[in-house]
Amino acid sequence: TTYKVGYFIGSLSSTSVNRELSRVLIRLAPEELEFTEIPIGNLPLYSPDHDANYPPEAVALKDAIHRSQAILFVTPEYNRSIPGALKNAIDWASRPWGKNAFDHIPAAVIGASVGQIGTALAQQALRGVLSFCNARQMTAPEAYIQFNKTLFPGDGEVVDDAVRTFLADFMDEFRDHIVRVLSVLPRQGH
Ligand code: FNR
Repeated sequence: TTYKVGYFIGSLSSTSVNRELSRVLIRLAPEELEFTEIPIGNLPLYSPDHDANYPPEAVALKDAIHRSQAILFVTPEYNRSIPGALKNAIDWASRPWGKNAFDHIPAAVIGASVGQIGTALAQQALRGVLSFCNARQMTAPEAYIQFNKTLFPGDGEVVDDAVRTFLADFMDEFRDHIVRVLSVLPRQGH
């Protein structure tokens, strides 16, 4: 069986280290997982004024989540929280009231920063948001990645064996988490 994983990159930077981390993770992931990026950079700012008539970009966002059986968040930390662009996308996806696209979806959170705490506070903030959105989060293992070019030279490569094994294990655990959540209640169209 294969599982469709939609993934969010929390950064809009053209040189995003989190985008590079996503390449690494996709490369190391077990073969049962198929990945599709869900873009967030083209969304207008959310307002409840749009609830009656979502713009095409927001409809596309919600459709992409509905087509996914699980969601992976790969995000930087901005000022000790998640970037506004990512929060905006989550706000769009969670609305209108009663049509929350994240309801019961298996989800995992990871992130990279050049700083030593490796997005720990952003991930904690994101977990709070996802709890309210009723996503089924993988709570362990956690992964706080301190990014540097020596360790991650590009094209999804990891130079260090221990780090590579750690990230491969993270993705194996995510696969197991998805299987577990979907075995309780398969995700259907909302
Ligand atoms: C940062 N950065 C940062 N790093 C961190 O570890 N904790 C933080 O709170 C912040 N805050 C922050 C705010 C803003 C507005 C910017 C632009 C940056 C540094 C950040 O980790 C670094 O820019 C990464 O390269 C961001 O990830 P992407 O965009 O390269 O994926």
